[in-house]
Amino acid sequence: MTRHLTASRAPEALHGTLAELRRLAALPLERGRTLPPDAYTSPEMYAWETERIFRREWLCVARAEEIPQPGSYLRLDVLGTPLVITRDEEGELHALSRVCRHRFMDLLPPETTPGQGSLKRLTCPYHTWTYRLNGRFAGQLAGAPLMQRVDFDRAGCRLPAHRVEVWNGFVMLNLDPGAERAAPGLRGLDQRLSSHGIADWVTVHSRTWEGVPANWKVAVENGSENYHHMGTHAATLDPVLPARDTEVDDCDGRWFTMFTPLSDPGRDGTRPAGYSGYGYSGYEGPGREPRAGMLIAGIFPQFVLAVLPDSAVGIRWLPTGPATHDTRITAMVPPGAPDTPGFAEQLAGMCDSIARIQEEDLVAVRGVQRGLASRPDPSDGRFSHLERPLWQFQRYLADRLL
Ligand code: FES
Ligand SMILES: [Fe+2]
Repeated sequence: MTRHLTASRAPEALHGTLAELRRLAALPLERGRTLPPDAYTSPEMYAWETERIFRREWLCVARAEEIPQPGSYLRLDVLGTPLVITRDEEGELHALSRVCRHRFMDLLPPETTPGQGSLKRLTCPYHTWTYRLNGRFAGQLAGAPLMQRVDFDRAGCRLPAHRVEVWNGFVMLNLDPGAERAAPGLRGLDQRLSSHGIADWVTVHSRTWEGVPANWKVAVENGSENYHHMGTHAATLDPVLPARDTEVDDCDGRWFTMFTPLSDPGRDGTRPAGYSGYGYSGYEGPGREPRAGMLIAGIFPQFVLAVLPDSAVGIRWLPTGPATHDTRITAMVPPGAPDTPGFAEQLAGMCDSIARIQEEDLVAVRGVQRGLASRPDPSDGRFSHLERPLWQFQRYLADRLL
């Protein structure tokens, strides 16, 4: 816990909720319990989280291969901030504001422009001001027609740029120009993931669920424990990745890990009989856990990665309001996997599994949000030992919000 800013700067309406957060975050896991319902419903809490977490923290926003080569772009909206990620001729990524400096038009309006593609320059469709995309000039105004007769500082005109880093093939973005680099804080997690080599895994499927009617923390908490395999995924995940066998690592700070072994590892110790839950099971390449199973790696505030022996699924949540968020799920496989025989069928099965499991999770997160809206007494909301990451999440929230 390094940041100590006084709660008095938080709005008056939040003092009770933040005092409760402070109290809960100081409890040992054995006595830990859920946050008060207000934390998941109040507009003031959402505004405070936006300012103290989402505008300051590294956020996972894309996979680097979504911007594959020089000239590629990816349109992105992060907490109401219109952005475009571009790759320059040196291969470097840039996260530029997509708001024209003239009269604030969206430079890549979704009505007329694909969300991904290739560009030499960025030209505003309104009055055709043009911005450069190359190297250190990225975002700089290149041309503004019919502006010679007025007093206008062309040279000083450029699109604001935000910080980006690539971590294990994922694009991390930070809206705070003064933020510390992302990589040093994730080194321990890198070690835990190193045997998998997911940095060069290839994305084979992505899908977004927009406007999910639940607070972002409800979704993050759901994705941060496997306890719910017993109920939510009783017929899909629990038979192959049983909740009861999950081992949660002792982590603190902004990332956590846990491991659920596959229930029936099969004769060769790596492939379970009847393994049909979440992944693609045809690849026999390197980079396995010593035991076959699912390694979960979470990075607060909004990203969870599930790594299976032969596939990985990244889940990113971005809030869009106090009680709504978008969920984006990306599936990846090792580089050789798409060339193996039968991959197309395996992929179709994986996409079906992802959709089915996500629909099960949506029943849970929507149901929890409905429960929270009824303002229940939270005093019985005790955590299981399998919900350790939720206890850790409260400590993270307390560090950032108090
Ligand atoms: S708003 Fe972009 S050129 Fe006018
Ligand atoms: Fe789930």
